[in-house]
Amino acid sequence: MDLKLTEEQEMMRKMVRDFAISEVQPEVERMEQEDRFPAELIHKMGELGLMGIPIPEKYGGSDMDYTSYIIAINELSKVSATLGVILSVHTSVGSNPILNFGNEEQKNKYLPKLASGEYIGAFALTEPGAGSDAASMKTKAVKDGDNYILKGSKMFITNGGQADTYVTFARTSEESGSKSFSAFIVEKDTPGLEIGKAEKKMGLHGSSTVPLSFDHCIVPKEQLLGEEGDGFKIAMANLNVGRIGIAAQALGIGEAALELASTYAKEREQFGKPIAENQGMAFKLADMATEVEAAKLLVYHAADLVEKGAHSSKEASMAKMYASRTARKAAIEAVQIYGGYGYTEDYPVERLFRDAKVTEIYEGTNEIQHKVIAKNLFD
Ligand code: CAA
Repeated sequence: MDLKLTEEQEMMRKMVRDFAISEVQPEVERMEQEDRFPAELIHKMGELGLMGIPIPEKYGGSDMDYTSYIIAINELSKVSATLGVILSVHTSVGSNPILNFGNEEQKNKYLPKLASGEYIGAFALTEPGAGSDAASMKTKAVKDGDNYILKGSKMFITNGGQADTYVTFARTSEESGSKSFSAFIVEKDTPGLEIGKAEKKMGLHGSSTVPLSFDHCIVPKEQLLGEEGDGFKIAMANLNVGRIGIAAQALGIGEAALELASTYAKEREQFGKPIAENQGMAFKLADMATEVEAAKLLVYHAADLVEKGAHSSKEASMAKMYASRTARKAAIEAVQIYGGYGYTEDYPVERLFRDAKVTEIYEGTNEIQHKVIAKNLFD
């Protein structure tokens, strides 16, 4: 296992780090307080080539390796987990399904716009009654001449309301089984698609999360992704890899919590000495550092396997489960180390604490990651 970064990957890390500190950091407070979607920052990320990192050059992307993409999410998330999730959803599940399963016409039509950041991508799988049990979805797509008519509703759609394209899943057969679903590229202005009111969330305040409703939504048959019946396969294949993106986001949150808490513990004095000199604090930080390091190894190992074509869903689920749990634990400990200050909005650890939690929930709860890992062990 060689986890040494290449020169190109190091350049990516430095470029994103500089961008995050100089351009993103000053905006974090405004995103947080105003629930403000960072459209200008996304535009700049498009100019830097960050919105299409793994997309081939012929479709207008940066044509870089998967690890470079993971580095970008990881570095952004140390400063803003909001931008981390926007980029992860846009790329892993908003653009990659089109890259991996689209026909040439669909790729030429959508990928250059997604890769430049002119378009933002989203993924519409979850429904009010179908979260972890994705196959219980009720949204239907009925063939009608040259169109499919979509009817149903989706829930918790990240980038929703801001996105230009929604990779949307719907039932095309009444039969049970994984071949009953199909995937469609639904454009934001499609008649019959209604965007609901944004959720008021515990964290990730700048990212938009909305319900969608499809009421006699007419989608031309050219928008079908892959073949009819391929939907579940498309969803799972992209989640298998996409979960590493969320793992990288969680890693960024954990690293930020560790860095802030270590600095604070060295500066904060009580009983005439820095609190870091108390074993109770030092051991906490040592545990945090060990777990963050272990999460980093899992995340970059999973990304490396994607690169080598040896990837399976097991490593992605392990990385996502462990990094998100680490992020939550590190953020809780960071609040504890900051004491009363950590519980106020004046210090960033409070935001990290709120942002960390959802990484254990979306793109498959950690209970679902256990299920995926166990299935891989026993199959
Ligand atoms: N990779 C590839 N194929 C898979 C798979 C995987 N990880 N998991 C299942 N499959 C295939 C199976 O091989 C099987 O194929 P066949 O029918 O050809 O045999 C088929 O799918 C059905 O398999 P199961 O019976 O095991 O499926 P299931 O219905 O019991 O559930 C599940 C599988 C893993 C629990 C799945 O429903 C799941 O991943 N649920 C979580 C949903 C999720 O992650 N949602 C995320 C929403 S997006 C999001 O959150 C983005 C965001 O905002 C940040």
